[in-house]
Order: sequence, then C-alpha cells, then structure tokens
Amino acid sequence: MKVNNADFNKKNIGEVVTLNGWVSKKRDLGGLIFIDLRDRSGIIQLVVRPDSPAYNAALELKNEYVVTASGKISLREKANDKLKTGEIEVIVEAIDILNEAKELPFDLNNVTALEDTRLKYRYLDLRRDELKNNIITKHLVMQSAREYLNSQDFLEIETPILCKSTPEGARDYLVPSRVNKGSFYALPQSPQLFKQILMTSGFERYYQIARCFRDEDLRADRQPEFTQIDLEMSFVNEEDVISLTEGLLANIFKKAKNLEIKTPFKRMTYEDAMAIYGTDKPDTRFDLKINDITEAFQNTEFTVFKDVIANNGIINALVVKNAADNYSRKDIDKLTEFIKTYKAHALAFLKYNDELTGSIAKFIDEATLSTLKNILHLDKNDLILIVAGDKKIVKTSLGALRLKLGRDLDLIDKSKFNFLWITDFPMFEYSEEEERYISCHHPFTQPRDVNNLDDKEHALARAYDIVLNGYEIGGGSIRIHKPDMQEKVLEALGFDKEEAYNKFGFLLDALNYGTPPHGGLALGLERLTMIISGTDNIRDVIAFPKTTSASCLMTDAPNQVSSKQLEELNIKLK
Ligand code: AMO
Repeated sequence: MKVNNADFNKKNIGEVVTLNGWVSKKRDLGGLIFIDLRDRSGIIQLVVRPDSPAYNAALELKNEYVVTASGKISLREKANDKLKTGEIEVIVEAIDILNEAKELPFDLNNVTALEDTRLKYRYLDLRRDELKNNIITKHLVMQSAREYLNSQDFLEIETPILCKSTPEGARDYLVPSRVNKGSFYALPQSPQLFKQILMTSGFERYYQIARCFRDEDLRADRQPEFTQIDLEMSFVNEEDVISLTEGLLANIFKKAKNLEIKTPFKRMTYEDAMAIYGTDKPDTRFDLKINDITEAFQNTEFTVFKDVIANNGIINALVVKNAADNYSRKDIDKLTEFIKTYKAHALAFLKYNDELTGSIAKFIDEATLSTLKNILHLDKNDLILIVAGDKKIVKTSLGALRLKLGRDLDLIDKSKFNFLWITDFPMFEYSEEEERYISCHHPFTQPRDVNNLDDKEHALARAYDIVLNGYEIGGGSIRIHKPDMQEKVLEALGFDKEEAYNKFGFLLDALNYGTPPHGGLALGLERLTMIISGTDNIRDVIAFPKTTSASCLMTDAPNQVSSKQLEELNIKLK
C-alpha cells in the first residue's frame, strides 16, 4: 500500500521509506538536486546527492513525471514552515521513473493560463492544491450530510434519471428513446415528484445526493448539471423541516469546515427581504439597506418624481456613509450605467454636506429635507443614491447596486457565515416571458389558503428558502397531499383537468391512495461547497464542469453523432 508523503515528520527521522508521486518542482543546484515530490496528501522534499546511485535518474526528471523514490528521512537544515513536512527531507538512494510527462500547457505552480486552457487540461488543473482541496471539501460535505441524515433515520433512495418531461420550471434536457420511436425521456430537474411519491409509499424519511439537469442560462453559480442534497419527510410542518436542515448544516460546517455555527438561524419574510434588500437572497454580511423615501416627495415640484407617485411607483434610496466627497460626477455616471442594466431609468443623487448638492438638490426644500433626515438618519458627507419608478424595478436595481457597492467599497466581512431563512414566499410570480403567472416554488407546494388562489399577487405559499451570504443554497416547502387541493392549484396555474392528468396524472393518482402530509427541501451541493471553499465560481467545486455555454472543453461534449445513431432513433436533423 502506498503511504501518504505528507504524513511523515520529525518522528520518522532515520527511517528508510519508499515514496510515490509527481515531480512538482525540481531545483538543480549544480551538485545537489532538490525535488518537491507531490501526492494527494501534500509535498515532501527529496534530496539527491551527486554520489547517490539515483543521481543520473534525477537529472532526467522534469515537472509532473511520476516517480517512486527510496531513501532515509533526515532533519532539514533550514525548515520550511509553509510545508507540513517542512522540517524533514528524504536523502534519496533510488529513483524509478514510472511515467514521463510532456511539456505542460501551463505552469501548475503559477497559473496565469486562461480558464479555457485549464478546462481543456482539467486533469492537470485538478492537481493544484486549490482545486484538489475544493474536491476534498465537497467529499466532506457529502459524507457529513449522509452521516447526519442516517443518524436521523432517513433512508437513501435513488430515483430515475430517465424521466417523463413535465412542464413548469426550467427547460428539460431530452433523451430520445430508440425503442419507442418519436418519444423522449427528460432528465430530472430534481427528484421532486418521485420523493413525494416515496412518501405515499410510506418511506417517511428519504434523502438522496441527486444529480439534477436544467437547460437554463448559466451564471457563476449555475451549472446545467448539478447536485442536490435532497430530502423529504412525512407528518411534518415547516418548523420540522427547518430545524432538521439547521442540524444538517451545522453538522456539515463542523465536519467540512471545522466551524461551529449557531442555530436557530435568523428568519425574514419574502416581503421584508424584497423591501430592505431588493432580493429574496440578501447578503446580510453588510448593512446598506434600501429605504423607502416616497413619503418625502408627496408634495414635490419635481415632475419626474411627481409622475412616479401618480403612477403608484416608489422612490427608494441607499445611503452610502461618508462617501459624498469620494464620488465624482463620473463615478455616479458609472453607477447610473450599472442600474440601467436592471431597467431603472436614472439614478438621482444627493450629497449631504453643509450645503446640499447633487442632481436633484434644487427640488429639496426644508420640509423634504427634514423628512429625509428622519427616514435616512443622515450624517455629514453621506451620499444618497435614489431610484424612482415601478416597484419591482426600483427594488431590484437598488438591490443590485447595494451588492456592487458592498463589493466595491469592501463593506463585506468575508469571515462571516450569515444564514437566513426566507419565509412567506408568494404562491405565484408573473412571468414576463410566458405572459402568465407561474409557481414561485413549484406547483406541488401548499398554498397558505387554498380559498385565496385567485388573488395571484398576494396568495402565499408554505415555502421557504435558506440563504447563505447572498446565495440561495436551498429551498423547499410543505407539499399538497390532497388531490382536490392539487387540482385547484394546477387550475390556478392554467392547466385544465385533462391537461393536468395528462402531465401529472401519476401524482394526482398517488394522492388518491393515502398520501400522508409531507414536506422537504433540497440544498444545492455545489453552492454550499463554493461558500465553504471561499470561491465564487461554481466550476471550482466540480471535477469536470461545463462552460457558460454548457460545453465540456476536455471531452468536447456536446458533439455530433453519426447518421447511423440518428437513424436508429428515427431523428432527422433540420
Ligand atoms: P430548487 O429549484 O430551489 O428546488 O433547487 C434547490 C437548490 O438547488 C440549487 N440549484 C442549483 N445549483 C447549481 N446550478 C443550478 N442550475 C441550480 N439550480 C438550483 C440551489 C437551490 O436552492 N425540488 C425542489 C426542492 C424542494 O422543494 O424540496 C427544488 O429543486 O441552491
């Protein structure tokens, strides 16, 4: 059995050992040859003296050659405190080259290569400590999740990957069926319906580390295939799922990060989150809240604001403390460009100093200023950034600006892990794209009040999200377990009965055969691992990730297939 190179230390001095690994670095000091030998556990220094029988072999070594070397562990003259094995070295007597390596496409010790190059040679990039440690962290997250859920009497159960395509949610990845020509499977966007049906079957507590597939626009925290720590429980309410999840996350942080996190986590309603932070996943590691200042402009002469109020719009502001003097007109113009990408029309600003200045200063009379001071608690040199207009646009654009300022002005305390439950989600949200109301969570979520489904703007769902440092790391809900309620909700979403049975008949049937009350949640494994690992790129925690255009640069997937394969599937390309 191979030993771990980094497990050796001063206690092993005098022992003769045989080590395996890769040449991470070689220094030829015209006589002595020093080699950093790397394996998964870390690095140990080899020394080859000119009189060593291994000297000629050592001369041939290049970076990333795979070798086996034997020698005696000795005390290092000058310790290297950056290495776990920094106090020792191995005086080598024999070296065998097990395999050679071509000249590398990039230097693993000093990566300046473009990400595309690194993705093409992913097997090399994964040799670097940073990525290797992320992969190890992900392993620890998965194992500690299993450990905790097993201890809570959950069963790990697999569900199909070749599924039926059901509407709602993101676009499906489709797989053509050879046997049933013209028919398609869909890859699961999540195991949602299967886990609910497992509750009907009486398993009571289910979990799965489940692969999910969604054909949607990709971002830094989104991949077309990703993994959920997915769970479902019978005979529960929101509080049961929430406290179980807190215990699960506490165990994950303890085992994967060696950190005790405090439970219970804070909670905030969806409405408050949108009002104060302009998003349902607020980063609460810094303040800079959104303030509603509509009231201050009730009698304004400024026609833009007057019109906004007349059209039921709002006027909101961010107060950037002690920043008025630092922001030039040009800086403000840049912020304006930024908020325009969120559909806001303009960014007004005020600088609160002995004299009030800024783009709308001439419209601020004594009374308005006094109301503003009351709402905003102004101090000298405060910069006030204002957006007016449609509520959703105002909140979203200021929410995004808040995050940008948080990053630009270094307001975020990176040592914090701020967990936050978002509760009281709306049942529906309006989709501009589909020009209809869709489920905010999914169509199987229980409404707060099944008799209030017509009021689409205000109907609430028994749904909750868990947010960490501004990322939605998980979400879930209490599900509908009665067929009549499920039919009503599908109807409210615009499915007629026949269509509903066509798409979800198996679920509606199952609800008719003794389905217990149930609920659950799914955590995004990669997002959680990203935050624990301190990276903001989801690709950094996936061994073989896809690019933002959903391709794998190492294997060249997706690729074209032979006409014979298409023929078998009865598919003709346009
Ligand atoms: P939801 O769609 O909110 O819920 O997904 C749960 C969590 O999965 C993560 N996630 C993603 N991670 C990476 N790439 C993606 N494309 C991606 N999409 C989602 C997020 C998210 O919070 N079946 C329900 C859960 C339930 O109700 O139990 C579901 O899938 O962290």
